[in-house]
Order: sequence, then C-alpha cells, then structure tokens
Amino acid sequence: MTGARQATAEACSNVALVKYWGKRDVALNLPARGSLSVTLDALRTTTTVRFEPGRDGDRLEVGGVVRGGGAQARATRVLDLIRTRAGLTDGAVVTSDNTFPYGSGLASSASGMAALVVAGAAAAGLELSLEEASVLARQGSGSAARSLHGGFVAWTQGERADGADSCGVGLFPQDHWDLRVVAALAGEHEKPVGSTEGMEQTRATSPYHQGWLGTVDPDLAEARAAIEARDLERLGRVAEASCLRMHADMLAGDPGLVYWQGTTVEVIHLCRSLRRAGTPVWFTIDAGPHVKLLTLPDHEQAVADAAAAVPGVTGVLRTGVGGPARVLA
Ligand code: PMV
Repeated sequence: MTGARQATAEACSNVALVKYWGKRDVALNLPARGSLSVTLDALRTTTTVRFEPGRDGDRLEVGGVVRGGGAQARATRVLDLIRTRAGLTDGAVVTSDNTFPYGSGLASSASGMAALVVAGAAAAGLELSLEEASVLARQGSGSAARSLHGGFVAWTQGERADGADSCGVGLFPQDHWDLRVVAALAGEHEKPVGSTEGMEQTRATSPYHQGWLGTVDPDLAEARAAIEARDLERLGRVAEASCLRMHADMLAGDPGLVYWQGTTVEVIHLCRSLRRAGTPVWFTIDAGPHVKLLTLPDHEQAVADAAAAVPGVTGVLRTGVGGPARVLA
C-alpha cells in the first residue's frame, strides 16, 4: 500500500448522561442498551501512530511511560482491526498524551481509543467515516464509541450480531448548547473492579439488572428531548436518575460493587444543597469515585469553588462541550 505510515490525531473524552452498564456480547463489546453522552472539550488525548516496516508487535507509550498489560492488549486489538482492513502486517509505535491524569478514572480509555483509531486509520491510509471509526474504537473500549463525535452523542444498541450497527451517532453538535461539566476528583483510588468484569458480575448476580435495563430506553428519549430544548433541569433529573439506578444495580450484585468513596457522597450532598439554594447543578458518576457536576456558564465558577472546598476533593477540572476526533498531522 502507499501513503503515510505515521499520523497524529486527537479525541476528547466523554461522560455518559444516560449510562451504559451491561453487554450483550463481551467479545465485541456490544451493549445491552444504548447510551448518551456529552463530549468533553478539556479532556483530550493526542496520539501518534507509526507503522514501522518489519516491526514485530506494538509498543504503547502513554505520558512518556511504556504501558503493557491490558492497555497494550486493547491497543493491539484495535490496531489489528486496522491492519486487517488495510492489508498491513507492520507493528506500530504508539505515543499518547492526555491533558488529564492517566488512569484517574476520567475515561482516558474513551479518548485514548478514539484517538488511536483515527491516528491508526490515517497512518494506514484508510478513509473511515466517524461511524466506521466508532465501530473499531468500541472494540477497544465501549465508551470510546461515543468519543468520535463532538457535541451530544448516542451510542446505538444495534441489532446485528457482528456489531456493525452499534456505534456513536452525533445527535447535536458542539455549538448546540454551552453546557459545562465540573469534575470533582475524589482522590486517587485504584479501581477495585474493571468495567468489563464489573458489568458481567452485575449481569450475572444483580436481581435489579433487568429493572435497570428497563429504564434505559425511556431515559434516552427524555435526555434527548431535554438536550434538544437546552433544558438543564430536565436533563439533570434524568442524568442523576440514570446514574443512581446504574449504581443501584452494581450495588445489588454479589458481591456488590462500591465504586464510591466517602468524598463521592459528600459531593452528591453538596450538589443537592447548592441546588436547593438556587444553583442549577446536577451530578453523574461513572465506575469510580469522581463526581461530574453538570451546570451552566454563569454558575461554573461557583460550582467549581464549592466542589474544591469539599474535604477529600483532590482536584477540580472544568470543561465545556468538545468537538469531534480529528487528524492533526
Ligand atoms: O466502556 P467502558 O469500559 O469505559 O465502560 C463505561 C462504563 C461507565 O462509565 C460506568 C458508563 C458509561 O456509559 O460510560
């Protein structure tokens, strides 16, 4: 094949407003239900992929540190999909940097996999639509399927057994609504159980799992309508409900999954007391201790200051709505 063998791309992370927790196919990372997210402008990964002729195996370096284990295996899995499509056999050298801490529980796998696919495809000379790239990124990390598009994004459940119709779809672009997200970091705790294992444990043992799954489709419709109307109260209510129902499902497994720390609960209460005092702010939490607070530009500073003052909060990140993944060079 001809064309560039090296390319650099960037992608933003995302946070789900209607959550994904449960797979219908573990090998292909196919979700039991759809989900809906907002792309996060300030949480970016920039990745360079270089296919080296004759190189055996891939090398992954994130933030200047060579990564092995699961991170490298997931990267190779996605690179293999690209190599198969492009008819390439060369190993790749991948260097990646985040604007936020690696492994901090801030969805570095979402932006990381999305940036890897876009850079890898460009380096291999493949022209992929954002949906096609999303199908590949999904196979490295489910939530990465939502990080190809900017703005507000749905990850469709899909029906096909091969997963070709389960990908991120742009619902509303970046400039549709100036939503703000303040992430309150609740310390540096090792994730007790990874999301794939956690989802399977929940599916197999939680008596609430079917109940949880039954809430997702109505919540998706409600969240979409709220975003279309730029109605934060309506969106915040459904986002909090989706988050708490997902965590209720996790907690109800055997053994139950407790991703929260004490600080997580303190920030939940802060959020609700700010709201009672008139500040438009709602929360969501993923499979980790950090709390993402949804608010509007006029209230972002006050929300960030209040979150930073909670004992145990080790940092606060502020972001607006991000754009699509793109090739930089
Ligand atoms: O696809 P993963 O392995 O990043 O799992 C994501 C799971 C949650 O963050 C808890 C929910 C979500 O929809 O992002």
